[in-house]
Amino acid sequence: MSVLNLKNKDESWDFREADTKEYTHCFHTYPAMMIPQIARKLLKAYGIQGGWLLDPYCGTGTSLVEASLFGMHSVGCDINPLVRLIATAKSKPVCLSALDGTLSELNEYLFTIEFREDNIPDAPIPNIPNLTYWFSEEVIRTLAYLRDRIGHIKDKALQNFILVAFSETVREVSYTRNGEFKLYRMPEKKLKDFKPDVFGIFTKKLRRNRQGLACYLEKRKNVKASVSTANTVEGELPQPRPPDGYDIVITSPPYGDSQTTVAYGQFSRLAAEWIGLPNARKVDKIAMGGIRSKETLRGSPVLSAVEKIRLIDEKRAKEVSAFYIDLERSIRSIAQACSPHTTICYVVGNRRVKGVVLPTDEFVVDAFRQHGFVHKTTIVRNIPNKRMPKKNSPSNIAGETSTTMHEENIVVCQRISTSTTHGDS
Ligand SMILES: C[S@@+](CC[C@H](N)C(=O)[O-])C[C@H]1O[C@@H](n2cnc3c(N)ncnc32)[C@H](O)[C@@H]1O
Repeated sequence: MSVLNLKNKDESWDFREADTKEYTHCFHTYPAMMIPQIARKLLKAYGIQGGWLLDPYCGTGTSLVEASLFGMHSVGCDINPLVRLIATAKSKPVCLSALDGTLSELNEYLFTIEFREDNIPDAPIPNIPNLTYWFSEEVIRTLAYLRDRIGHIKDKALQNFILVAFSETVREVSYTRNGEFKLYRMPEKKLKDFKPDVFGIFTKKLRRNRQGLACYLEKRKNVKASVSTANTVEGELPQPRPPDGYDIVITSPPYGDSQTTVAYGQFSRLAAEWIGLPNARKVDKIAMGGIRSKETLRGSPVLSAVEKIRLIDEKRAKEVSAFYIDLERSIRSIAQACSPHTTICYVVGNRRVKGVVLPTDEFVVDAFRQHGFVHKTTIVRNIPNKRMPKKNSPSNIAGETSTTMHEENIVVCQRISTSTTHGDS
């Protein structure tokens, strides 16, 4: 049956008035976050309590948190070390009384520092290129002090919780322009008046996140949650792997390669470097579509769109192909890790390149069909509250913009249970 016959617009998936920052979902912003209500509704429809969920591009861990609230074990993967840290802090249980002890100790330090004559004590400043381009001298000294203090916290889970608030603080107190995912500095004339209250911002985030965590711990079921470094594009399989395979995959893959769409690496870089995470500058390069494989795009639903792009711009066509080749390779690995009855739910946007729409939803259906899945439905929803760049410059001419996505597709496929399709290679 054609994909189009099973594709329906459904406004009940828009969640216009929904609170998207409940529980630990309040911890940290990130570009193109999935809203928790989507994962929640999908789990209600297709989840299996006590079973296993996989999110192979988990970002900040929205579906892992929802799986724990629903009662499924979960595994997430991402190539971005900053979001692995955030997803871990959001989804794994933490001892609240131990956290409160650590937070009040930290508060006392900060309080005494604020009232010292000579103010912030010296602390090692990380070796980050162009640091003074992105931060004022005073902010650098304050962040260095905070980073050093956090480093003294022995318990890894408590340290991670605090690093998440530190990470968002780094972004907010930097000269980065508000509302941008890429690293752009605010205009020169704004710099001298920009005097952020680093301690104030940091402690406010800690309080907010502590509250979200308490609500999460109250509702979270006794299940496992793990975050893995596996890159499924490279054929690596997520760990741990349940013996019978994952029961459900709920995920939102990137829309395209990071260099020309959403630059997850640029968004995370300053915070990742302050924290001292590895490969902070490599994320956009190693993300899907970043390294061109030698394979060519086989007959697929995006092929004719790619050929139209090629007539306008050969280089863009190669970039687009590289992304779909990687997406297909990743789906191949994921299919291997699925059970004979897995439901996959992919939230994808059909982006436009050079004025040509790329039917990513049809590509996903087709790729999973190759591994014994059948298409159940594609739900089309409006994007009222997802943090997405609504405009881009398809022509790469400064100042020229075009509206990108206002809708996204939730593609649902299910594996038909036969022993031959399970564990295919
Ligand atoms: C749309 S975001 C996911 C957002 C997530 N659902 C959330 O709510 O935070 C896509 C993610 O895919 C990740 N990514 C890109 N290439 C990847 C790859 N090869 N393997 C795993 N993750 C990848 C990016 O780092 C990014 O975090």
